[in-house]
Amino acid sequence: MVKDYIVKHEWKIIENGFHPEYSEISESLFSVGNGKTGLRGNFEESYSGKTLQGSYNAGIYYPDKTKVGWWKNGYPEYFAKVLNACNWIGLQIKFNEEELDLNKTKILDFERVLDMQHGLLERSFKTELESGKKIQVKAERFTSMHDDETACLKYEIKSIDFKGTVSISSFLDFDVMNQDSNYDEKFWVGKSRLADNSYCFVHAETLKTKFNLGLGLQTTVKLNDKPQEVIKNTDRDKFASSNYAVSLNPGDTCIIHKYVSFGSSLYHKEEDINAICKEKTDQIQTAGYNALRNNHTSAWADIWRESDIKIDGDVSAQQGIRFNIFHLKQTYTGKDSRLNIGPKGFTGEKYGGSTYWDTEAYCLPFYQSTAAPQVGRQLLKYRYNQLDKAIENAEKLGFINGAALYPMVTMNGEECHNEWEITFEEIHRNGAIAYAIYDFIRYNNDHEYLYDGGLDVLIGIARFWAQRVNWSSDKKQYVILGVTGPNEYENNVNNNWYTNYIARWCLNYTRECLELARNENNDFNNELLNRLNLSLSEIEKWKDIAENIYLPYDNTLKIFLQQDGFLDKELLTAEDLDQADKPINQNWSWDRILRSVFIKQADVLQGMYFFEDDFTEAEHMNNFDFYEPRTVHESSLSPCVHAILACKLGKKEKAYEMYLRTARLDLEDYNNDTEDGLHITSMAGTWMSVIKGFGGMRIKDNQLHFHPSLPDQWEACHFKIMFRNSRLNVHMTKAGTTISKETGELDSVFINGREIDFS
Ligand code: BGC
Repeated sequence: MVKDYIVKHEWKIIENGFHPEYSEISESLFSVGNGKTGLRGNFEESYSGKTLQGSYNAGIYYPDKTKVGWWKNGYPEYFAKVLNACNWIGLQIKFNEEELDLNKTKILDFERVLDMQHGLLERSFKTELESGKKIQVKAERFTSMHDDETACLKYEIKSIDFKGTVSISSFLDFDVMNQDSNYDEKFWVGKSRLADNSYCFVHAETLKTKFNLGLGLQTTVKLNDKPQEVIKNTDRDKFASSNYAVSLNPGDTCIIHKYVSFGSSLYHKEEDINAICKEKTDQIQTAGYNALRNNHTSAWADIWRESDIKIDGDVSAQQGIRFNIFHLKQTYTGKDSRLNIGPKGFTGEKYGGSTYWDTEAYCLPFYQSTAAPQVGRQLLKYRYNQLDKAIENAEKLGFINGAALYPMVTMNGEECHNEWEITFEEIHRNGAIAYAIYDFIRYNNDHEYLYDGGLDVLIGIARFWAQRVNWSSDKKQYVILGVTGPNEYENNVNNNWYTNYIARWCLNYTRECLELARNENNDFNNELLNRLNLSLSEIEKWKDIAENIYLPYDNTLKIFLQQDGFLDKELLTAEDLDQADKPINQNWSWDRILRSVFIKQADVLQGMYFFEDDFTEAEHMNNFDFYEPRTVHESSLSPCVHAILACKLGKKEKAYEMYLRTARLDLEDYNNDTEDGLHITSMAGTWMSVIKGFGGMRIKDNQLHFHPSLPDQWEACHFKIMFRNSRLNVHMTKAGTTISKETGELDSVFINGREIDFS
């Protein structure tokens, strides 16, 4: 059942009145981050109701020992998890002896607001304590986008009729654990701590991976503008606090500021962390909250300048798209090629914060169109840096000669997913990694990347496909057996059309790129062939496979078959399902799902989306009309691809329905799982449904084209696009579309085939 408690607003996510029954959903929705660190929308003060306290630091993970029912050779030893780390927002507040806890007090009014324009999380409430006295609180926090090793919060307590002592403990607490810890273990070991007057410092190290993370905290407390002194410091393993006791009278206001700095061994020498945190924390405290806040909000203004989408006449759609852009931008900034985009970002623990094919298939287009080209390039570099591990991964499964199989789920290049039908079978992910190289080169017209790692990756992937096919003497064609396609509601199928198609494409594209290298950079080409021991006969073999690979097709329905035997299923459609059955992954046995016709996410249609120009309009229409009605969209990655294809086919209502589903997936909790964290990677799909769907943006013949189709529900849609260092403004209205150039050297673009000349 969808939830409808978030107030619709163009720039804000608003919870009006506290909804304890949805508290964990709200914690996900109200998360903030800055690419390096992020946290769920937890309360600063204690809360004894349902909560997942979560604070995460990008790239700091733990290899949690695999837990499976039945071990299979080839399973990875561990599942990597981005670690729940130090709780830095914590404030324990007591009014006389009574602890402030909104699960226990009477809430008189409550509002929580995520101001996406300025990157601020605000909360205000009025509450009646068990003693009958009333107080009012206003809190605001941010993880700085200007300086990604700092974060701040301001917490203001006003007494309405309380008179007495307020005890405040402002703390750093590293004694946390991951909710999804396989063996209920804690992964942090305390290394040092300090609580010295208003300064606290806690330094901890992860078990096994030995990542070090230190946090410095300066607290200030003022009563009616008058600074208050610390009365006591407390420290114990992984914990440090500064404690205050303030006499509060009705009408008085007490303001607490927490200035926090992060020092991690990813960026600093372990032995320097202590000094760096101290220096940084002092520095930000001296600068003061307002100055830091200004720097942060102006960094957000820059982000929106490059990436905003404005929708007139549909506040639901507007809120949805900004919510998606906001979370994508605070999850990944492209500054560090060791980092990537976990499907839940910093908003939850599911999927371990690791990297999936989602990055290449869904996220790259967003980052390369809303930031400088280096940002997208970092995502490619991430995979290049992990090529050796992908080769090792393939070797473990029996492949040879430099064949690379990129992991389904990874943190450092090693596979860490352990369900055989996904780990061993969902090999189509290798195709998406090659496709991203093609996509980046096409978008940026920068094939130099081929000589900077791109070709090495493509060759490793091509070698994998060449070994993964086998010749069927029955079909007299190459086949790929025992796979799982993007539709995870089918396993161990033969000849998944999408997998076979993308395998063929990879072989052809790699050959094309080698040909290009031979023509324009022969020295490099010779060096590469020698270094990788790649012979012309091996390349010829790729050609033979590509020309003779089997692609299942049904002549009667004129559709590509998702896999061999697909038409033997009972050909129901999603409309035949009872409302109570949905989502089927929460209501049906796995056995029933596997035998059913229902498709989790775009599969054949994913291929038609990637390679759309390979197909006729009729082929697009037949396949969409056959597969979409059988798709239950139970992966968040599904509706966006369908929205794009529906736009292309002129199915405007379907496109709009799919758009709202992807854009408001978390805001309305469509899949009943937002409490686990937000669907960050599918948010990039939402962006694609506006730009590639309604905007119809494509690159053809090295030119940028638009084929706009504004939804009837919208008055207008304006969006920004970064293309080859030029920034464009696209305005789609009911009367037509105009495009102007804000910056850069681009000569022209095309709207419905008509050239718009910028010169
Ligand atoms: C989808 C996968 C995806 C993963 C992480 C799964 O539900 O089926 O395609 O990679 O979620 O987003």
